[in-house]
This record gives sequence, C-alpha cells and structure tokens, in this order.
Amino acid sequence: MERKKKTIADFKKGSRLVMITAYDHPTARLVDEAGVDGILVGDSLAMVVLGLPNTLGATMEDMVRHTAAVARAKPKALLVADMPFMSYERGPSQALKNAARLIRAGAEAVKLEGGAEYAHIVQALTKAGIPVMGHIGLNPQRVLAIGGFRMLGRTEEQRRKLLEDAKALRDAGAFSLVIEFVPASVAKEVTEAVDIPTICIGAGPYCDGQILVLHDVVGLSERPPSFAKKYADAATVIRDAVRRYVEEVRSGQFPSREYYRD
Ligand code: KIV
Repeated sequence: MERKKKTIADFKKGSRLVMITAYDHPTARLVDEAGVDGILVGDSLAMVVLGLPNTLGATMEDMVRHTAAVARAKPKALLVADMPFMSYERGPSQALKNAARLIRAGAEAVKLEGGAEYAHIVQALTKAGIPVMGHIGLNPQRVLAIGGFRMLGRTEEQRRKLLEDAKALRDAGAFSLVIEFVPASVAKEVTEAVDIPTICIGAGPYCDGQILVLHDVVGLSERPPSFAKKYADAATVIRDAVRRYVEEVRSGQFPSREYYRD
C-alpha cells in the first residue's frame, strides 16, 4: 500500500515518532523506504560527511545543497532542515531569509537550536508560515560555550531552564522539540510539561519520539556518541566490497566478459 505523505499534522503527542538524518539522495531514498516519519538534513553533516570537528562549519550553502538532494528523493517522511550556526542569531530578518532558502530547496520545516532566548525567532518564522522544530538540551552549535559535548540538565538550574525553554518555544509556535543528551527523568518532565511532541536523542525513552544520526546507526561514524545504537556495520560492507574490486582489477578478474562489449 502506498504510504501517505507525512506533514507536521502527523507529529502528534504520544505517537512514537521515528526520525533519522540523511544528507544525500540515495540515503534519503533508503531511510524513507524503511518507513521513518521524519528525515532531518542535520548540520551534523559537517562532522559525519565533511569530516569537520564540530557542526560550526556547516554553512547555509551546505544546508541548501544537501536539503535539495534529499528533497529530490521525494520522501514520504516529513523533511526538516537544520538552520546552521549563525544563520538566525542576528535576528528575525536574517532567520526569515535563510529559512526561506531551505524551504525553497525542499524542506517542509526547519529546526533551530536554542531556548527561550530564540523564541522571538521561532515566532517570526511560524508567523510567516514556516514550521519550526525547536532543539534544547545539548546544543552542539554552542559547543565552544559549553566546553564540550556534555550532558545538560543535571543541576536544578539547568532542569528549570530546560522546562522554561520548552514552554517558551511551544508558546512561540514550535510544532515539536528535539531534546538532546539530558537525563531521561528530565526529558520525561519536559515531555509532560508541553503539548507538542518531544523527540529525543540520548535522552531516554519517555519522549514522544526518537532521532538518531544515520551514520551512527549504520556504523559509518568514526566516533559515535555512547547513546547511539549501531544497527549495522556498513563500514565493513563497503571496505570489503572495495577490497574485492581492488583485488579483481589487479588480478585481471574484472572486467570479465559480461561487463564489456566489443
Ligand atoms: O544535526 C543533527 O543531526 C541533529 C540531531 C543530532 C538531532 O541536530
């Protein structure tokens, strides 16, 4: 049976949503065929695709190009694109201009990192008809200010701030919230405090959904985070295939008769 196209209306509280990242056309096709609800063109592409040490190097040009590649796969899943570092911090007019570029590239929603201090940006985007997914907890774009990729929400002050952030983003119009790398009990409290779906990464089972980075899931990441489950070993599959190709060319086995014409 043909799957129905997912929209933000399908992102309902309590619906056990499944999201994963994809950054190019072939993997977007595969993850969509696997039945995810949402695909994120994450700025994690800076690390897992471009080999950078953190996500600060992802540019609008990177995000637009990769979003367009994923959109060409015409996924049934909701297509969300990340607003990269310094693409919205200067204010609503910068955010509107850059979010519009992602939407024109094929995104159906944008995600941005930050709490209550960015509620005015979320409000400006949603007013303009651009659905926004918030992202609280560990915000990798703030890695320099935090001093590393650390769990947040362990102190009372951080826990209270997370709750305030979630409510402020919800009030500003966000349709869902990613919660990254906080204690499961805190993610549960945030999930119960807002009436929009929460999507966890490294934050336990009590959220409305889960999201992981594709390269961590299939075993292509060099240093996957401890909270990511590896479901396959694509690195071994690729390395073995290319090794066999190298051997066969060197031994004269490839190209054999069926792979060329006279
Ligand atoms: O960029 C990304 O992949 C993300 C997920 C980790 C949520 O923001």
